Amino acid sequence: MHFDKLVDLHCHILPGIDDGSESLEKSLALAQAAIADGVTHILATPHHLDNQYVNHKADVIKLCDQFQAELDRQKLPLSVFAGQEVHINGDLIEKYDDLLGIDEDKHYMLLEFPHGEVPAYAKRMIFDLRKKGTTPVICHPERNHEIQENLDLLYEFIENGALAQLTATSYIGGFGEHVAELSHKMVEHNLVQIIASDAHNLPGRKFVLSEALNQVAQDFDAAKAQAFEANAEKLINGDYVAAHDYSPIPMKKKKKFFFF
Ligand SMILES: [Fe+2]
Repeated sequence: MHFDKLVDLHCHILPGIDDGSESLEKSLALAQAAIADGVTHILATPHHLDNQYVNHKADVIKLCDQFQAELDRQKLPLSVFAGQEVHINGDLIEKYDDLLGIDEDKHYMLLEFPHGEVPAYAKRMIFDLRKKGTTPVICHPERNHEIQENLDLLYEFIENGALAQLTATSYIGGFGEHVAELSHKMVEHNLVQIIASDAHNLPGRKFVLSEALNQVAQDFDAAKAQAFEANAEKLINGDYVAAHDYSPIPMKKKKKFFFF
């Protein structure tokens, strides 16, 4: 299937600020790969507060603007927006003003758990963020060891108002059969609402978003794949996304970003 627009809400395309792209040259190569995959709009989401990387809101916005200017100069048809992959911490509420949402008004935010576990305070933090008006979108739950062991944990987060993002590579088997099976199960049970690349570098962690969406269309139906894409658009526009509603909803005429 073909998408006129393809929105990728998780990637490490900005140069030199985390374990993603190391240089402007590599970022441009990633951009070209994204375009080749059909991606038209991308949310740059460097790691933030994960013990290794701190990427303040203002710095990400500035770098993102510079990168967009370079893309425009090179006539690469890709729109880049500033975001963060926010690692869960006990003091996120105190740091709230320095956090970037998926959308401009921070109705949604990418929230990363440690790979090994789900912190005991995660449920409380999701509640606190929602109280601030932000719905957390849990990054790649299929790669979290505790959720892998017990999918009910993810079910509960979704029931409590969070959303979740599946990584395209996981779905098509790039992290092994077990992760692929879990990813399939999450899609089947509507435990994830978007699929994103989480691209870091080439050729290792690349763009396979179209491939994953096509695989979803093949495994389930085209409507489900379209719903994932539509949800990504809704999130970047700050529009409502229902956790369990995967029937495609017609796009509004006027959106916050003029691209849509
Ligand atoms: Fe990431």
